[in-house]
Amino acid sequence: MKKLTLLIMALLVVVTLAACKKETVNIGIILPTKDEPRWVQDEKRFKDALKDTDYSVEILFSQGSTVTELSNVDTLISKGIDVLIITPQDGSAAAAAVEKAKAEGITVIAYDRLITDTDAVDYYVTFDSVAVGEAQAQYLVDQATGTGNPLYLYAGAATDNNAFLFFEGAWNVLQPKIADGTFEIKNSSEAIGLQTKAVLTRSEMSDILGQITTNWDFNTAKNLAETHLTNATTADKGDVFILAPNDGTARAIADAFADDTEITSYLVTGQDAEVASVQYIIDGKQSMTVFKDVRTLVNDAIDMAVSVLDDDTVVTTGSYNNGEIDVPAKQTEVVVVEQSNVVAALITSGYYEESLFENLD
Ligand code: BGC
Repeated sequence: MKKLTLLIMALLVVVTLAACKKETVNIGIILPTKDEPRWVQDEKRFKDALKDTDYSVEILFSQGSTVTELSNVDTLISKGIDVLIITPQDGSAAAAAVEKAKAEGITVIAYDRLITDTDAVDYYVTFDSVAVGEAQAQYLVDQATGTGNPLYLYAGAATDNNAFLFFEGAWNVLQPKIADGTFEIKNSSEAIGLQTKAVLTRSEMSDILGQITTNWDFNTAKNLAETHLTNATTADKGDVFILAPNDGTARAIADAFADDTEITSYLVTGQDAEVASVQYIIDGKQSMTVFKDVRTLVNDAIDMAVSVLDDDTVVTTGSYNNGEIDVPAKQTEVVVVEQSNVVAALITSGYYEESLFENLD
């Protein structure tokens, strides 16, 4: 009898331990919002990449709210995570959230967007965001002939460090072409006031962003573009050039410009290679996108996390200063996609199924 009781107790311990183990999450991932295809894509790629891992993972979304982001961090801390991979909703507000995680001994990896003004970020995986802005601007420059071409500038959310890097890259390429008269800025008095300056300070960029930010929001972008078109004279229209920071805002801005009868033609940039924008490119409604292969970023983030969990050396290739420390970083290159290379860059590479698109030939 005694033996049987002991056996039952031992079994109970095993079952309880197994149950506890199930509750524990090794890697916590927090993404900013499900409302943008970009981040749903990241979720999908994380799930694909993690299918065969032995480590347990949980992915949460902040839905555009820093409050939800903080409670997501709390939830993951309570589940015992060792590594947190996080794309901040607001790069500076997220400092408090990751400091909480750090205080629990959790390794923090900033994913795509840097977390600023804190020493609680261990690593950063990112695309070359300055190169994204440069590629967008270079596309516009390559299509422009003559002088006085109307230029409309748009930017991302000022709470996102990337919005500054994208704009910095674009300015690097556009500014000389504004200075030599190829382009004339039509929608930002702050940018016009600074157009002779080759390199802008962060606060100068903030002044410009204050006038042209889309806040990464489709409706904000559309309303802003409509306001700019209402304020523009007929001479400010015609054949125009538009720097749009990403695909969601590019489609919104493109729709607004397409609706204006005084716009003869428009060229508009983008980024992310979202399915809807690739279709816009095929249909000639968006000019280009900057493809950021999320599979690479996901793999880099997971490799880092697994190295941390296995006590191996984490591989980085450089660093980014976040206002407080130099964060060791791994950076990935980007690819320009326009009508002529949609198939090669996105279908042949296995990124998207051909069946997602119409009129692709
Ligand atoms: C990302 C972009 C994305 C944007 C809006 C940026 O930080 O790098 O890929 O389009 O946020 O979500």
